[in-house]
Amino acid sequence: MAILITGGAGYIGSHTCVELIQAGYDIIIVDNLSNSNRESVKRIELISGKKILFYQINLLHQTDIEIVFLENRIEAVIHFAGVKAVGNSVKEPLQYYQNNVTGTIILCEVMKKFNVNKMVFSSSATVYGIPEFLPIRENCKTNPTNPYGRTKLMIEEMLRDLYISNNEWSITILRYFNPIGAHKSGRIGEDANGIPNNLMPFITKVAAGKLQTLQIYGDCYPTIDGTGVRDYIHVVDLAKGHLKALEKTLSTSSVETYNIGTGEGNSVFELITAFESATGVRIPYKITNPRPGDIAISYADPSKAKQELGWQAEMGIEEMCEDAWRWQSNNPDGYLSNAAELISGK
Ligand code: WQD
Repeated sequence: MAILITGGAGYIGSHTCVELIQAGYDIIIVDNLSNSNRESVKRIELISGKKILFYQINLLHQTDIEIVFLENRIEAVIHFAGVKAVGNSVKEPLQYYQNNVTGTIILCEVMKKFNVNKMVFSSSATVYGIPEFLPIRENCKTNPTNPYGRTKLMIEEMLRDLYISNNEWSITILRYFNPIGAHKSGRIGEDANGIPNNLMPFITKVAAGKLQTLQIYGDCYPTIDGTGVRDYIHVVDLAKGHLKALEKTLSTSSVETYNIGTGEGNSVFELITAFESATGVRIPYKITNPRPGDIAISYADPSKAKQELGWQAEMGIEEMCEDAWRWQSNNPDGYLSNAAELISGK
């Protein structure tokens, strides 16, 4: 029996595939490669020493998904596939509802048809919007402030209704805080196409000289130093959280939601300082206006995941910075860095 990973060629998906393989699971990746690169699947094979069954398909094409279920015995699905840029979701809401919500409906329809009723779903702390209280617990009011966050919350509600309609479903919803860093091999990492949206890929591209200056979006927030505070979590810690979530999903029938964060908040300045201390590379920056839609502070209370999944983050902010820098240094142009090898088919 195999675990189907939708979006498995992506940043968090690829790191989760490595952990699953190393834990002994057989995996299958489906990905439309709209925001990822086929090369990452090759890197997962390199790291794990295992050949991976990969289908380049779009979740909106139901017949393609059905072929995957016809050709393989699937035990559970870890569902990462979707579009995730907050800013872009404001400009292109229909693309976000189509890809994220409709794509998930089609996936669930096919799962139902083939009697597969176990899913780990990739959600986001964005569903909380401006947090009602801190640290954020799972029962904190949800109030997403952008279409991306609304798609994630809509899918969560749909999955909860699916479980109510049939208690044989087993669904674990993981709300990620801010994943950064990379696998210690330096072979897989965050491959932001073009200009990054998020802070850490921006920092590493400035450190690599690919971008001139880091823009700090505002320093007048009610925080320790005026800059935004977030709960940065190492992507490998996050991947291991999926392993624990899968174990629970395979052994019970329920629908549960977990915050996956470290429980620590760090400001932009604190992340810059940690990066400079971990790498010895200075990050030139300038303060600009706040980014519309940004919130001041967000960090998790991860105690529910610790109690019920037996999971907690283990790596600290400097290790996240070291590992992010190793990925950037080894792959100056992300997965295209070895374009020559790609072309030669090595
Ligand atoms: C972090 C902090 C910015 C860039 C987003 C999504 C969330 C999740 C993670 C998908 C903030 C500041 C940033 C820059 C800056 N993605 N910043 N200069 O906005 O907390 O979360 O990514 O699930 O859904 O909302 O992450 O990395 O963009 O910003 O000063 O160039 O860094 O203001 O305080 P964010 P981020």
